[in-house]
Amino acid sequence: MRFTTPLVAGLAVVSPVVAAPYSSSKNQFQPITQIELGPRPYYLVNDMEEGALKKKLQSCSNMKMKRSDWSIGHRGGAALQFPEHSLQSALAGARMGAGILECDVAFTKDRELVCRHSQCDLHTTTNIVNIPELNAKCTQPFKAAANGAAASAKCCTSDITLKEFKSLCAKMDGFNASATTAEAFLSGTAKWRTDLYATCGTVLSHKEHIALVDGLGLKFSPELKTPEVEMPYEGDYTQEMYAQQFIDDYKKMGIKPARVWPQSFLYDDILYWLKHEPKFGKQAVYLDETGDTPETFITAVQNLTRYAKDGVRIVAPPLNYLVTGKNGEIVPSAYAKKANKLGLGIISWSLERSGPLANGANGDYYYNSITDVVDNDGDMYKLVDVLWRQIGIIGLFSDWSATVTYYANCFKIGV
Ligand SMILES: *[C@@H]1O[C@H](CO)[C@@H](O)[C@H](O)[C@H]1NC(C)=O
Ligand SMILES: *[C@@H]1O[C@H](CO)[C@@H](O)[C@H](O)[C@H]1NC(C)=O
Repeated sequence: MRFTTPLVAGLAVVSPVVAAPYSSSKNQFQPITQIELGPRPYYLVNDMEEGALKKKLQSCSNMKMKRSDWSIGHRGGAALQFPEHSLQSALAGARMGAGILECDVAFTKDRELVCRHSQCDLHTTTNIVNIPELNAKCTQPFKAAANGAAASAKCCTSDITLKEFKSLCAKMDGFNASATTAEAFLSGTAKWRTDLYATCGTVLSHKEHIALVDGLGLKFSPELKTPEVEMPYEGDYTQEMYAQQFIDDYKKMGIKPARVWPQSFLYDDILYWLKHEPKFGKQAVYLDETGDTPETFITAVQNLTRYAKDGVRIVAPPLNYLVTGKNGEIVPSAYAKKANKLGLGIISWSLERSGPLANGANGDYYYNSITDVVDNDGDMYKLVDVLWRQIGIIGLFSDWSATVTYYANCFKIGV
């Protein structure tokens, strides 16, 4: 068994399944032809209330499943159970039929790009605080809980080099607020997730992620994470340089712009790509989180007009912006109607991030506009159905790709 790229250093221990068949080819990752959805989508369908949609979805229960570009792997596509943004999460997302995989991009001290959900989440998504020499480099090294104050730490990708980053283990996002030792700080996984696969997940650089997704024959939805350090970083690394470097990684690796959906929450990043990298800008996705209160929701809807005018083609609000509850049903919101009217493509995030949906999803953010209408896990497919058949979204991020892939196959979307 031989490995040809640094991507798999240390991989043999955790994932022999991946390595064996591919070692002789140029890229050790190859397209997955046997898509496996596992039991969860079938469980969700069975959990639905009786009705036409349930019947339709049940009618697909013996279908041979294919991957779908409508199914976008959030944080790799298996973050519900696998350490987010790890090689293992991406492989599980691909196995579950995600056609597009996400890497959230942040920069290291030596200005290399890596996959992390935020620039400063290393203390909750990796084992960094438990490695003394790296913990010492953190913006705020681990501080034990004491005198009623919670344990804390703040570790950013920009605190360490790429090489140091690659020595970390990816774990499930979470921390133990009452930890008195660095090791105890590492636990804290929500009980509806699992630590079963958190056995030192392989962290990825952006370039490794590109090689992986390219090898798998899939598409890309990288996100330029908003920096949490002052820009220009160290006085001379500007936001524009960061946005450009992000696109340059695709160009250098020969990836066609049509396979890439660059995303950002910073509107100026979108405008930058539209102007300086129009081929990539064409599919740029503006991640909209500007409408979280009733007042700002109104301006968020109004702002859509400006985005369309500026040449933005795709907006990506969270699920709760797109739907609302009415007479016990989930219906399209004013945001969804306006975006449709303007001809904007809509992508949404993130299904399967919320835990069990009993009791109005227990007040969870993603369901807060339809709390009254949601009371069991099967309702997830009611939501997905409104997103597709009433709103016509072009893609859906999920922390468990199988759930979206199943619906996409059943309704023949992007397969
Ligand atoms: C959290 O930390 C405390 C103090 O170190 C420890 O006693 C407890 O077992 C930890 N909890 C978990 C779930 O590891
Ligand atoms: C959205 O609208 C508000 C209020 O008009 C404005 O302050 C904000 O900058 C707008 N956002 C964008 C990205 O245009």
